[in-house]
Amino acid sequence: MSSSREIATQILNNIYTKLDFFETAILQNKNFNRLEPRDKAFVRSIILNTLRRNGQIMEVINEFVRRPLKKKDIFILNLIRISICQILFLEIKEYSIVNSAVQIAKNYKFDKFVNGVLRNICRNKIKILKRSALETNIPNWIKKDIKNNLGTDALIKISKTIVKEPYLDIKVKKKYIGKKNWEKILNGESILNDIIRIKNDGPIEEKPFFNDGIWWVQNFSSTLPVRLISKIYNDQDKTKVSILDVGAAPGGKSFQLIEENFDVTSIDISERRMRRFKENLNRLKLKTKAVCKDVFEYKIHKLFDCVLVDAPCTASGLIQKKPEILIRNKEINLEKLMSKQKRLLDQAAKILKVGGYIVYCVCSINSKEGVNQIENFLKNNLNFTNINLNRKISSFGKILGKGMLLILPDETKILGGIDGFFISIVKKIK
Ligand SMILES: C[S@@+](CC[C@H](N)C(=O)[O-])C[C@H]1O[C@@H](n2cnc3c(N)ncnc32)[C@H](O)[C@@H]1O
Repeated sequence: MSSSREIATQILNNIYTKLDFFETAILQNKNFNRLEPRDKAFVRSIILNTLRRNGQIMEVINEFVRRPLKKKDIFILNLIRISICQILFLEIKEYSIVNSAVQIAKNYKFDKFVNGVLRNICRNKIKILKRSALETNIPNWIKKDIKNNLGTDALIKISKTIVKEPYLDIKVKKKYIGKKNWEKILNGESILNDIIRIKNDGPIEEKPFFNDGIWWVQNFSSTLPVRLISKIYNDQDKTKVSILDVGAAPGGKSFQLIEENFDVTSIDISERRMRRFKENLNRLKLKTKAVCKDVFEYKIHKLFDCVLVDAPCTASGLIQKKPEILIRNKEINLEKLMSKQKRLLDQAAKILKVGGYIVYCVCSINSKEGVNQIENFLKNNLNFTNINLNRKISSFGKILGKGMLLILPDETKILGGIDGFFISIVKKIK
């Protein structure tokens, strides 16, 4: 039977070599599924922290692993990675980390080597920690953009936030707010009247009232686009406002729109994601027109009053929650995503009524997917104007250009970090 640390190394191996997402990699590991809940939590913590500290750990490896490891020895490299993470960043006794790593390495005949490397790192721990900078963990493709557009200060603050354990935000259905003490029931803290922030400490299906369909998981920042849409149509009969939610699955924004009583159509190209959307919809006892189709092939009968475009993106705003993004430098195809975002905006413009709004958002903090995308859209579409999302409209985020919102992971008004997010609203004036 593999030990927890061996299982953590196996999973990390798949994340680094096959570029699996963290959640996929742990679900596929049979040994992980057999572990006790306490050991599962330990494995999760080791892997996530190793990914969050990837840059800092690589610096230590470059200095202390002097013998070059071959491609086939990647397991040993990952064993060293998780051990460095535990030695430097998790409060675990050094002897237990080193002993366990040496035991695992024995099967690969690397025990002496691993022992030497790790003991040397333990001896130099204070020196390493003094000079190791958190910014190293942010890969260049994100770092350069933050530095150029938001400055070094922002980079430092974001680097500090992303190494912390993220919270989970629970969006409670409006009609149940005040009916029960949700903070107490869900063991969390209310950060807005309908959002309870909890510790991410176990399967959400096991949290109280999950099966009753009273709440869903949705990070606070991703609830902002629909909060803004609600403000626009505050004085109108919302049942008469038609909204197309483009890229709707797994569903958070559609669920908000439905509970606000808008006339919602939810479309997504992915069958797998749409299945999850429908499961969520049923559990929440909500109804919508759900369409599994490519929006470019969707034949509409009537133009929409509003089109919400939650576009596919690099997800650079989610690095606290999905730290595997930090190691995907070369695999993120920014150009391809930017071209898709542009096409989605153009399509939204075509199927929108005059006087209607496009609400564009991405869970990315990269300017090319956010502010630049909208500036280009406005340049090419003179029949559209930008809605100024100023402080009267939103008290959160940084206001960019002519009133676009950028929510950064270190948003000061919400303690504990938040998903990075970009939101802009444009109006079709003729
Ligand atoms: C950022 S995710 C959406 C998250 C979702 N709005 C939510 O709140 O849960 C982007 C979605 O766009 C969908 N998508 C990508 N290209 C599409 C297309 N051509 N037509 C429809 N949906 C598309 C993807 O399948 C993905 O589910």
